[in-house]
Amino acid sequence: METLFLKEKNLDKAADIIKNGGTVVFPTETVYGLGANALFSDAVKKIFTAKGRPSDNPLIVHIDNTDKIGDLTEDFNENARKLAAAFMPGPITLVMKKKDIIPSSVSAGLETVGIRCPENEIARKFIEKCGCPVAAPSANISGSVSATVFSDVAEELKGRVDAMIEGGDCLFGIESTVVDVSGKSPVILRPGSVTFEMIKEVTPDVTYHPSLLKKVFSDFEKTPPSPGMKYKHYAPKADVVLVFGDYKKIRDWFLENYDEKKCLFIFSEYIDKKEKSVYDIGSEENLSYMASLIFKLMKKADREGYKTIYIPAVKEEGVGFSVMNRLKKSCGGKTLEI
Ligand code: TXA
Ligand code: MG
Repeated sequence: METLFLKEKNLDKAADIIKNGGTVVFPTETVYGLGANALFSDAVKKIFTAKGRPSDNPLIVHIDNTDKIGDLTEDFNENARKLAAAFMPGPITLVMKKKDIIPSSVSAGLETVGIRCPENEIARKFIEKCGCPVAAPSANISGSVSATVFSDVAEELKGRVDAMIEGGDCLFGIESTVVDVSGKSPVILRPGSVTFEMIKEVTPDVTYHPSLLKKVFSDFEKTPPSPGMKYKHYAPKADVVLVFGDYKKIRDWFLENYDEKKCLFIFSEYIDKKEKSVYDIGSEENLSYMASLIFKLMKKADREGYKTIYIPAVKEEGVGFSVMNRLKKSCGGKTLEI
């Protein structure tokens, strides 16, 4: 199929495509999304085809305004209300009991639906013009790394969707925090830029789903908290090795064992002179910046032909917990102690 490339000034055109049951890639503050009318099953199915996504993995439904939550969900309870008030619009998804209006192709047969109101202006204007909720997973081929810059989405999905809206680089660079608020206490199913610590301030009884607390994940989770978690995720073509240890020692080890097929992601504090195979992930004091770069740099390393990417482990608190969650999945169990 031919893919139309659109800019912010063409949002009416993009919205028409959604109204007619087509698929449109759009920017958000987390990662690019691959959208379709969430209330139209035939349109939703095109998302699964374009991504090669298993049909038992539910989609997040995007809205332009939190006023719409009540139209789509049955139980907009106190926890949900508090979290929506504190963090929406923003990089969070709330899982709630769905209304029948949400087709089962969106929820993958579950009783619940994930609702997200993005903060990105283009995303919100686009959804508003569509006049319907927009179902959207991350805009990447299933199993690969989410796209956070337009050129990466264009390369991966050109010819697979009806249109793409160009919207620059995504601010946060990792997917939204998914919180299940359908039970008595909120449970974090996927960590993101709205951190555990931030959520705890608003709903003190929040917990991480126990599967998120493992040291390393296997490729296949046998008891996933949400269907999406049983699939291999966030993997570039190169092997990712998660390296535990002192950052200076990691850098020295890498440089002493130079090999043109291997590259290293390391904090700017440990880069003395520019080496092609050493990628700067910003200051070790700013893990949000590392989060915003990580997927983009994995795709870059693939393009540059590296076969192995060494990435340092970070402290699992704040957004560091979310970064480590993605890295543990990317590495598929390959770790190294220096
Ligand atoms: O930041 C984001 O959330 C991006 C942008 C485009 O909004 N979207 C995104 O969608 O990351 P996706 O489909 O790549 O990831 C959605 C995750 C999956 O792991 C899925 O299983 C989980 O959310 N999920 C969706 N609905 C769920 C539900 N009802 N119950 C449990 N998990 C759910
Ligand atoms: Mg995804």
